[in-house]
Amino acid sequence: MTDHTTLETELLARIEATGDLATLDALRVAALGKSGTISLLLKSLGSMSPDERRANGPGINALRDRVAAAINARKAVLEAAELDAKLAAGRLDLSLPAPPRRKGAVHPTMQVMDEMIAIFAELGFSLAEGPDIEDDFHNFTALNFPPKHPAREMHDTFFFHPGPDGERKVLRTHTSPVQVRTMQRTNTPPPAPWIASGQEPPIRIISPGRTYRQDSDATHTPMFHQIEGLVIDRNIHMGHLKWTLDTFIARFFELDSVVTRFRPHHFPFTEPSAEMDVQCDTSGGEVKIGQGSEWSEIVGCGMVHPNVLRNCGIDPDVWQGFAFGFGVDRLGRLKYGMPDLRDMFASDVRWLAHYGFSAFSAPNPASGLS
Ligand code: PHE
Repeated sequence: MTDHTTLETELLARIEATGDLATLDALRVAALGKSGTISLLLKSLGSMSPDERRANGPGINALRDRVAAAINARKAVLEAAELDAKLAAGRLDLSLPAPPRRKGAVHPTMQVMDEMIAIFAELGFSLAEGPDIEDDFHNFTALNFPPKHPAREMHDTFFFHPGPDGERKVLRTHTSPVQVRTMQRTNTPPPAPWIASGQEPPIRIISPGRTYRQDSDATHTPMFHQIEGLVIDRNIHMGHLKWTLDTFIARFFELDSVVTRFRPHHFPFTEPSAEMDVQCDTSGGEVKIGQGSEWSEIVGCGMVHPNVLRNCGIDPDVWQGFAFGFGVDRLGRLKYGMPDLRDMFASDVRWLAHYGFSAFSAPNPASGLS
């Protein structure tokens, strides 16, 4: 009996003194494992006489239970301490900077579009939009393209298969159909709320959007962007057109003034028609606008053809107007120096990271071009 008491006192003291879970487990194996001290005592019961077993059995079993309970209690204490230590070491430092996040960038075309819209908004133009899939009437006929005339092919048009009614829709080849939608007063509501529909003159709109032609080289992509402008008022002449374009171009290239010239051209929907060139210098390998002795074509324009006004129900003897159409991607290329237009739509993130803009520098019609 005394032996057991000494053994218990000694074991309990050692259990109490253990400082870590590994030592505690070693103690458990030494006492309660297969050949542990207490296990051997329990085994010895088998070789005792029934009387001896009756006398010693309860004491040894109780000893095992108390030692096992002490080990479990100590284990719980050590585990709690270990968890506390882990939590203390793993504390969150909220003053640390956050890990860097990958930032997106505004595509140069969208940036240029916003810059252009902001400038035209300052000049008093409002926005009008139209659908990318157009019918022949809005894209060609109303714009004075003669029926079945090869001029319809001049734009390298993407035609859809004819529908059940034989009508062949097109991917619009320019944003000029929005002119027609803006001027035309019909009894049918527009197919969507954002699509322009008949305004009374005077009219002053720009229509930005995607346009499509079968063309692909360093300066052409099958999908590109245009901003069309339309002004309809009384006594409008080419001088108003020139002032508007000169003012816009100077503002867009952040110059006090620019030198431009009209070059005669042909568009079915304007008469007279012109292309405007801007003075530039390409000698250093990049295009510098507003200096040098070269010219860069920048915009197609002209006075709205009387037939177009008539097609839209506007009396050309009362109202005149001018229209112009800018290639947005082309203008972006001239301002920001992208060498190949096709890269603009290749979705290469390295290109976007290089040429893209911070969302914080995007102008809008309310803020203007800062
Ligand atoms: N729609 C013409 C084009 O895409 C541009 C243009 C617009 C020309 C308005 C004159 C007037 O080439």
